[in-house]
Amino acid sequence: MLSPAVLLFVALCLVILLLQQIQQRIRRHGDAKKWGCQPPLVAPTGFLGIPGFIRMTRAAKKKHWVEFVAERYSKYGNTFQQTMLGHQAMSTIDPENIKALLATQFNDFCLGTRLREFYPVLGAGIFTLDGAGWSHSRALLRPQFTRDQVADLCLMDGHVSRLIELVPKDGSIFDIQRLFFLLTIDSATHFLFGESVGAMEDNRVLGNASVGNAQGFAEAFNLTQEYLAYRSMALSFYWMINPKEFRDATRRVHEVVDYYVHKAIEAKRHPEKKEPGRYILAEALAADNDDPKVLRDSMLNILLAGRDTTSSLLSSVFYFLARHPAIWEKLRHAIVDEFGDSQNPKADITHARLKDIPYLRYVLNEALRLLPPVPLNFRVAAKDTSLPLGGGPDGKSPIYIKNGMPVMYSIYAMHRRKDLYGPDADSFRPERWEENAKRGWEYLPFNGGPRICLGQQYALTEASYTMVKLMQRFTTVENGDPGLKGPIVDSKLTMVHGDGVKVRLY
Ligand code: HEM
Repeated sequence: MLSPAVLLFVALCLVILLLQQIQQRIRRHGDAKKWGCQPPLVAPTGFLGIPGFIRMTRAAKKKHWVEFVAERYSKYGNTFQQTMLGHQAMSTIDPENIKALLATQFNDFCLGTRLREFYPVLGAGIFTLDGAGWSHSRALLRPQFTRDQVADLCLMDGHVSRLIELVPKDGSIFDIQRLFFLLTIDSATHFLFGESVGAMEDNRVLGNASVGNAQGFAEAFNLTQEYLAYRSMALSFYWMINPKEFRDATRRVHEVVDYYVHKAIEAKRHPEKKEPGRYILAEALAADNDDPKVLRDSMLNILLAGRDTTSSLLSSVFYFLARHPAIWEKLRHAIVDEFGDSQNPKADITHARLKDIPYLRYVLNEALRLLPPVPLNFRVAAKDTSLPLGGGPDGKSPIYIKNGMPVMYSIYAMHRRKDLYGPDADSFRPERWEENAKRGWEYLPFNGGPRICLGQQYALTEASYTMVKLMQRFTTVENGDPGLKGPIVDSKLTMVHGDGVKVRLY
């Protein structure tokens, strides 16, 4: 039996808690009024959002997550609130809200639980950190991305040539997405580590025999990302997703990256052994901090940000071109006009010349619009705040966002809004970029605001260069999967074609 003093203490605590809650409600009510906020539409998700969450995970299992989310916007409008596993969350595809989230109210929002969810694999780096840690990483990396070495075309040439060697020359059907994923792991590791893991080289064994072959590294890295996406989806229950398979893949990825971390540290300690003139991002990072864990985290954060996104873009370009032969013809014509074909090359492929082919840029823009490599994203309110749209019966008033509330946004769904892109918003039509090249916050494949993608130029150069080389070498692309009705948009952390992109090239 509890003593009366203890009972009194417990009662007092409860009263204080209650009063704090009441005070917070009154303050929030006052702020909402002051900011002109109106209640948002609430989309049903069942008791505590559990049935809604189950429907979403089922959709994810069937590679239908991105479409499932887009369908909810078609049903409930551009901004709505919903409950997920007991948490209230806001969802929006209003460009004004996304602009507030990423730029004009940048300090009101943070990445929320991303660090905790991704920590086992990525640790603390530019992609997982907020605040001072993020500012430091960004300041350190930004100059590296403006250097000439970024998207070094000579470096890329060897990898793209290897990819071309791997394309079946007898006109048989193959999955070009698989090759693009190997291409970008090879080029990204080359750029980052100074040495490619050689995923396109059969059974090549890395310097450290215990690490296993390079394709094994690519597979382990893929698997870790799949689990990171599940952890992200599980919100505050992320810690429950930590199976042995995930831990083993993480260990494998770390072993490989540690091999390069060690090399970068050695290069710093023995500069006399360094190859002159070679630029290696890992060495630039080691110059700032050569703590092995800090270096590993930084390198993995960039590898994650840069690798799958570019292969996703290239795969989508081929998905569309294989279904639009007239666009392939037009683009190939523009490329061969500028550079010649592989038998009769006319001019060197340079950064400047790559930028000089507007139709190539339109094709890339259009693929990034319809199938953005980062289709779904979210931020979490770091304080009580508001967003400009979504409140009231017409959705035109501001909405109140409580501290801690996740705000999810789908770039995929926003890029398909007919009121923004016209009645043919769902069609692949690169010419729309000729008519209207300037887009604002309604076009966001690379994000916007202070956390805008650092690798945008790198990615566009790599994708452009690969397209030019492939189109110089092959005259025709054919759809190898005519039975497929629409793209199967699967999202791990980045967009992938759930059934691959099957084509014939000759
Ligand atoms: C088509 C290719 C790419 C797309 C569509 C893309 C898209 C994005 C997006 C949407 C973000 C924001 C993520 C967020 O804040 O939640 C981002 C961030 C980032 N990207 Fe990219 N990216 C691409 C390629 C690359 C490449 C090739 C690199 C590096 C080699 C790279 C490096 C980064 C980095 C370091 C960040 C973190 C920036 C920060 O938080 O300050 N990206 N990217």
